Amino acid sequence: MDTRPFRSVLYIPGSKERALEKATGLATDAIIFDLEDAVAIDEKANARTLLAEKLCVLDYGVRAKLVRINALSTQWGADDLEVIATAKPEAILLPKVDNAAHIEALARLLDARPDTADTRIWAMIESPLGVLNALNIAQAPRMAGFVMGTNDLAKDMGCRFRADRLPLLSALQLPLMAAKAAGIVAVDGVYNAFKDDDGLRAECQQGRDMGFDGKTLIHPAQLDIANQVFAPSDAEIDLARHQIAAFDAATAKGEGVAVVDGKIVENLHIVSAQQILAKAKAIASVTE
Ligand code: COA
Ligand code: MG
Repeated sequence: MDTRPFRSVLYIPGSKERALEKATGLATDAIIFDLEDAVAIDEKANARTLLAEKLCVLDYGVRAKLVRINALSTQWGADDLEVIATAKPEAILLPKVDNAAHIEALARLLDARPDTADTRIWAMIESPLGVLNALNIAQAPRMAGFVMGTNDLAKDMGCRFRADRLPLLSALQLPLMAAKAAGIVAVDGVYNAFKDDDGLRAECQQGRDMGFDGKTLIHPAQLDIANQVFAPSDAEIDLARHQIAAFDAATAKGEGVAVVDGKIVENLHIVSAQQILAKAKAIASVTE
């Protein structure tokens, strides 16, 4: 499991030079450099060379760098990989992944090149088949994370937009469970109305409560909310410290459980408490 935070994962169209440059100073935990849906067909070729060039010269610091190529079944996928591999991206994000064979095919191409020996694979889960095959996909070679493609999913499901996302809940939870079972990262889909802060906050909170590591974003104005919602709060950090101290004291007395704020604290709560502190530490290490 990647121990870095993935609270905020910002899409940047590979064709937008200004946005590519701007992102070196944005408070985003990870960036998805996009060659797929955010790039018009006429711009595909220029975008991939521009992006490869920028990735070689710009310094994105600790931010995780993913490149979303076009699917290998399209006319652009193979060329995207060829050009982007020279910039040694840490991960390729493959769109429209329906089954593990899609990942295995990409893994074979990466295996065949010396410059991609360490490149990980992330998968867009954005089709009913992808959702239903999520566990096999999560366990495929080089896999490191899932990105939920909620716009494509809603299209394929024929479901309506609702603020509570009830029509999408199973489609979000199945891949999330698969990601947890395989020990890979999972980030939630985008919130399209990028000027609606309240709506974004509510959707971030819902994704966080479900167990997502963070949210994919389309505009820098969305960063602060995602970074805040997906970080442990001061109260959660305090409680985690109290739980660990109380449990240590109980164990020292030969007892297996402790009580904090009128609630039982067992070994499993200590695991969660330690995860909260580890996450807070990981966030501090990228923001200092
Ligand atoms: N990443 C980095 N910088 C971005 C950005 C992004 N995703 N979106 C906008 N910016 C920058 C702009 O370059 C601009 O910078 P400047 O002020 O230094 O010139 C600034 O943020 C303000 O941009 P704004 O004018 O508010 O946005 P816009 O109207 O130009 O673009 C979108 C709005 C939605 C088209 C644009 O944000 C975008 O392309 N988002 C990504 C879409 C995407 O990748 N979709 C695929 C996955 S769903
Ligand atoms: Mg998509």
